[in-house]
Parts: sequence; C-alpha cells; structure tokens
Amino acid sequence: MSGVDYADVVCGLAWGDEGKGKVTSHLTFLNEYDYVCRWAGGSNAGHTIYVDGKKYKTHIVPAGVFSGVKSVIGPGCVLDVESFYQELEYLSAAGFDTSLVKVSPRAHIVTKIHKEIDKGEYAKKLGTTSSGIGPTYSDKALRRGRRAEDVLEPSMLWNEKFSSDRPSGARILCEGAQGVWLDIDWGNYPYVTSSNTLPYAACSLGFPPQKIRNVWGCAKAYDTRSGTDPEFPENLSENEHLAFLQWKGQEYGVTTGRKRHVNWLNIDRLIRAINMTGTTHVVISKCDVLDECSVKKVKFSGDRFEPPTYMNIEDLDQFMNRVEGWIRSSCRLVEKIYFSHDPEAI
Ligand code: IMP
Ligand code: MG
Repeated sequence: MSGVDYADVVCGLAWGDEGKGKVTSHLTFLNEYDYVCRWAGGSNAGHTIYVDGKKYKTHIVPAGVFSGVKSVIGPGCVLDVESFYQELEYLSAAGFDTSLVKVSPRAHIVTKIHKEIDKGEYAKKLGTTSSGIGPTYSDKALRRGRRAEDVLEPSMLWNEKFSSDRPSGARILCEGAQGVWLDIDWGNYPYVTSSNTLPYAACSLGFPPQKIRNVWGCAKAYDTRSGTDPEFPENLSENEHLAFLQWKGQEYGVTTGRKRHVNWLNIDRLIRAINMTGTTHVVISKCDVLDECSVKKVKFSGDRFEPPTYMNIEDLDQFMNRVEGWIRSSCRLVEKIYFSHDPEAI
C-alpha cells in the first residue's frame, strides 16, 4: 500500500540540543514506524544517540538507521555530500545498514563555497555552525541552487513514495533538527537558523497536515544556547550554579565543540513553544543534572520592557511538580509529560 497512515513528529521546544536524538531513537526501537525522516536543516544539527550502551554522533542521517528503519533526508533539507558520505561510512563501519538511507531529489546541495562564505562572513557575526546552511538556503530562494538529483547517484535518491505492507499505509516518524527558538520566523532574528523547525514544516515531506498524530516536544530542565544570542549574554557563565550545570551537563556543541551558554529554564517560553508546536508528549531531559545543582531556579521572561524574574525551587520534586502544574494549566493538547533522569533513555 502506498500512502501515509500517520506521522508522528519529534521537535525541539527550545534552542536545539534538547535530546531529540534520544527521543527519536527510543521511538524507532518501538517498531511502530516504516520511515524516519528529516524535514529541515543539514549538518548543522548534532544528534547524540546511544545504542546498546554505545554512543554515536550524527549530523544529517536520520536515526532510523540505528533500528533498521528506512530513513529519508527530505526535500526541505540541505545536503553536504562529503560529510554525508563520511557519516554513511562511519555508520556502516559500526555495522548499521546504510542502504536504508535515501535522499530526496529536491534537497539542495551545500557546496564548498557555501561553507566558505558561512565561515568567513557569518560564523563570527551570527555564531553559525559554519556548515554552509544560510548560503545554501539563500541560493535555493534565489532559484539558482543545485539539487541532489543533479549530483547524487540515482540509487541514493528517494522515489518520493511512502509505502508499506500494512493495508492502512506507512507510519512515519519525523525527526526535527534545531528548535522553536532557532526557527527563521519565530526565533530571535537574525540569531536563527535558515529553516523552519516547527512541526508544520514536516509536511514538506509530502503528506497533509491531517496526518500528524503525536508531537513529541523535547526540552531540558535548564536552557542552553549554542552560538551567539543577546538573550544569552556571556556573563551568564559567571554564575557558579549555571557554570556547574554547563560542566555537569557536558554542554558543548556536538557540531562545533563550543561551550553552550546556560540559563535557568524559561517557563513562559516553554509553554509558548508547547502550544505553538501542538505538543502532545513533553519530554524534559537532564533532570539528573539539575538534581545535582545545589541551587535551582525557574525563569519567567516577562515582556520586553520588564526584567525577567527568577523563582527559587527547593528540590527536584518541587521542580517537577511546578513544571507539570504550569504545563497542565496552560497547554490543552498535552497528554503526557516525562521527566527524564537518564542520558540514554526517556
Ligand atoms: P546555522 O544553522 O549553522 O546557520 O546557525 C545558526 C544558529 O543556529 C547558530 O546560533 C547555531 O549555533 C544554531 N544552531 C544550528 N543548529 C543547531 C543545533 O543543532 N543545535 C543547537 N544550535 C544550533
Ligand atoms: Mg543537537
């Protein structure tokens, strides 16, 4: 049967690095999907995934490859051919079946020049990952880009059909990259990435919005920001407790190795992100890290003219109770909230 039965979406509720890789690989191992697909971004993303206790890092290949599920890099993605093939070799050497990975013929190609421009002009100014993302999407918008169909061997290309042995059609898991506050429209422009990170953009894979079933929204027990953003000033690291979270949580960019800025969880932002994405299942990771910090706080953003306020939280139980209460009272679509204490499992 060709056609789509349903699509579940995993998305970031913050600035990326919220544990989407962990949630995606957990879901793919449940055997409930025929496809795992990326819908936006490129090798700027960095996903950390544990399989049988071993740690793997990927940038563009969807997590389906770890559980033997067909994996698609969608039409809205940008592909750095060299780093893509390197990643396939790395995964194949580790014993995974990389023939499951296909690329949409419509995905745009990141060239050496795109990366040079990104590195030379935008890495310092905007704190980009130097992966050539902005320049590639800008050539796409100017309608002068090269696409995967112009460059890749035909055997690597996706046939743009979702098929399944099941009579009701294919089940798809859409793997988000980055997060709501890095979205080109909704983030703190120009300190954003160049694609749409919200779940509606997953429909660019070629299914209608009515097919979206569950949205798994991922966040952490504290906020982190990889790259430049005036909302995360340098002096945050002078706070010993935030510095502790940075150290204990190993908050370094997977793609760039840069230290991430850390701040207390901004609860207003989290609630807004849950509502904008239509999140049905919330996963809040790194509760084990927050638990070990002697001081715990939650941030309320206020509006642009008010200074933010911070509430002191007694312990992890109080943190979970409060956060659960705030989410339950403001987010109607949420069915389940998970507080995760394990880097390898939900
Ligand atoms: P670009 O996507 O490389 O153009 O970078 C634009 C902004 O998004 C920078 O602030 C990056 O640090 C941030 N960014 C892009 N991808 C990720 C990610 O996967 N995790 C966290 N931050 C990211
Ligand atoms: Mg990441």
